[in-house]
Parts: sequence; structure tokens; C-alpha cells
Amino acid sequence: MLERTLVLLKPCTMERGLMGEIINRYEKKGLRIAGMKMMQLDDAILAEHYAHLVEKSFFGILRDSMKRTPVVAICLEGVDAISVVRKMTGSTNGRNADLGTIRGDYCMSNQQNIVHASDSPEAAQVELNRFFRPEEIFDLGDLNMPRLYALDEV
Ligand code: TYD
Repeated sequence: MLERTLVLLKPCTMERGLMGEIINRYEKKGLRIAGMKMMQLDDAILAEHYAHLVEKSFFGILRDSMKRTPVVAICLEGVDAISVVRKMTGSTNGRNADLGTIRGDYCMSNQQNIVHASDSPEAAQVELNRFFRPEEIFDLGDLNMPRLYALDEV
């Protein structure tokens, strides 16, 4: 099924000059970019986004690290995009993440781990609504589709 998912390029990615390189990996994979913008996050949106972690001892450090610079919010689109992008992301701790994944290739940290990616269809829908207005996500029509997929895959 054609799906959309949310990726955030975290402040560590901007600071390390890796934004283009990470975006390039999604493009080379064949995911389509249906929306993309820079945003400065604040405490309110971070408390919502990381609601499952607010009680954790590291939440304050995590929240502050996500405010150091703007983030880049990206809406990626493709067949089974949510699971494909999670697979490309790798496990949370960059030291354990498989080589070949983004976290496995670009970071050494459990927190400064390059990207956020939605982890389920439910999360993708909620998170895309959190970071994008409807008009900021574009209908790309059949752009590149005949080269990305077989006719019976879409
Ligand atoms: P989580 O939703 O568990 O992982 P993921 O990003 O892989 O979906 O955690 C969200 C972020 O919280 C994670 O990317 C980095 C941060 N974090 C820590 O700083 N320390 C930790 O021990 C964990 C589990 C997460």
C-alpha cells in the first residue's frame, strides 16, 4: 500500500552537516519526498511527540537537544514506506544499530541518533498531522512511479 511517514532530521544532523547526505539516502532508495520544511521545535510539541518518554530520567536532556537548532521535517511516500523507513533508520542506539542503516552508519549515540522515523501506521498519521498542515504535503501524482514500481505493485 502506498504510505506516507514522518522523518525528522535531528539537530545533531544539521550541526554535523549531514542533512543532504541523509536526504540523499531516502531519494536513492526510491522514496518520494511529499513534504519538507525546517521548524524550530518548542517544549509543547516535544512533550507531545515524546509523550511516551516524559517520565524518563533522560527526557530533559532529550528535549533540550531537540531544540538546539531547527529540525527538518520530511514526509516520505512509497509502498510500505513506514516499515521501509524504520528499517533504513536502524535501532535506537547507534552503537548497536546494524551497519548499512542510517544510525548504524552515522552515529555513536543512543540519543544523538540522526533521525526520528514513525514506527507504525497509527504513529505516522498522528505525527504527520503534528508537523505538517495538509497543504504542506503535496500530491505527486504518478511522478517517477513507472520506474520505481511494477504496474501491479502500486
Ligand atoms: P524511542 O521512541 O524509544 O526510539 P526511536 O527513536 O528508535 O523510535 O526514543 C525516542 C528518542 O529518545 C530516541 O531516538 C533517542 C531518545 N532516547 C534516549 O535519549 N535515551 C534512551 O534510553 C532512549 C530509549 C531513547
